[in-house]
Amino acid sequence: MTEFATRVEDVSISGIREVFEAAGEDAINLGIGQPDFPTPDHVRQAAIEAIESGQVDAYTSNKGISQLREAIATKYDRDYGIEVDPEHTMATSGGSEALHLALEAHVDPGQEVIFPDPGFVSYDALTRFAGGTPKPLSLREDLTLDPAAVEEAITDETAAFIVNSPSNPTGAVQSEADMREFARIADEHDVLCISDEVYEHIVFEGEHHSPLKFAETDNVIVVSACSKTYSMTGWRLGWLVGSGDRIDRMVRIHQYAQACASAPAQFAAEAALTGPQDPVDEMVAAFEERRDVVVDGLVDAGLEVPTPSGAFYAMPKVPDGWCEEVLDRGVVVVPGDAFGANGAGYARLSYATSMEDLKDALEIMDDATSAVR
Ligand SMILES: Cc1ncc(COP(=O)(O)O)c(C=O)c1O
Repeated sequence: MTEFATRVEDVSISGIREVFEAAGEDAINLGIGQPDFPTPDHVRQAAIEAIESGQVDAYTSNKGISQLREAIATKYDRDYGIEVDPEHTMATSGGSEALHLALEAHVDPGQEVIFPDPGFVSYDALTRFAGGTPKPLSLREDLTLDPAAVEEAITDETAAFIVNSPSNPTGAVQSEADMREFARIADEHDVLCISDEVYEHIVFEGEHHSPLKFAETDNVIVVSACSKTYSMTGWRLGWLVGSGDRIDRMVRIHQYAQACASAPAQFAAEAALTGPQDPVDEMVAAFEERRDVVVDGLVDAGLEVPTPSGAFYAMPKVPDGWCEEVLDRGVVVVPGDAFGANGAGYARLSYATSMEDLKDALEIMDDATSAVR
């Protein structure tokens, strides 16, 4: 039999799956990384109309339909006052493909990629697939990424650093001052800043800021998606924003690996970006209410947890054996070390689940905490 390539042998399946598989059928699942709301109706209708009118039977342009690229560009001006040329955008199969393209197109074998630890599981794996060397960086006490630490970690071998705000798994949101610093570092050190903004609209305190706004060179690339904002994880639609040259290089890979993002999803995404945004506001309000209940419940249980300002995750510090105890009692949480070595001693809880389940889970977690202390 043909041997498997080293680059896949070196990467294992995400630890999150293992937890799901260990859980019983009746378990309350706080391990899930997707909103528990339906995709807004007008978005579904746009896809249905595109299908019925025969607009999705053929490949689209590699970079995506022009209406969607216009909608992406307009969104940055509307939301953040950032002028983006539609030519500097491309549609991808989710934020996941966008991250993959950004790394494949910019990282040479042996080059280093700096990213937060704990951080989203794909950063390490996709860096390895690109032949790069992962450089996980520990976080501040409040679980944000420190620009000074990033700057210190940069070497001649550094190709890129990844910033993710709001963050999976911590829910932390980087300040405007941090984002300005990330842009300055990308400019001054001539390294790429990949800003993963898939949770950009799920912010409870303060605002989302993109380093794209502050960069003076073309060294910032933005990755985002419809997945979390519009509860569209199954549609597989994301995008990239970057200079014409960078988009040109990334589309070379996309052209051969994907041809184009799914056409029905592109029409749906255009409707999501240009249509009413109230479903997003309603979802964010529900997440905020749950966030407060979860944080209060964890603090009452005697756990230390920085209050997450965004996304739909909380990351408390937990005693040894806590995750196993909680799982035995029927609540699925993800052990922090699934997100990097520095995640050890933490757990990631997703509150993208009903308030009723959250309240039951908090009681169970309270009992489990007393049992392991
Ligand atoms: C931080 C982060 N980036 C990117 C992604 C990928 O998003 P998508 O579902 O659009 O591929 C996720 C999904 O969980 C995520 O949490």
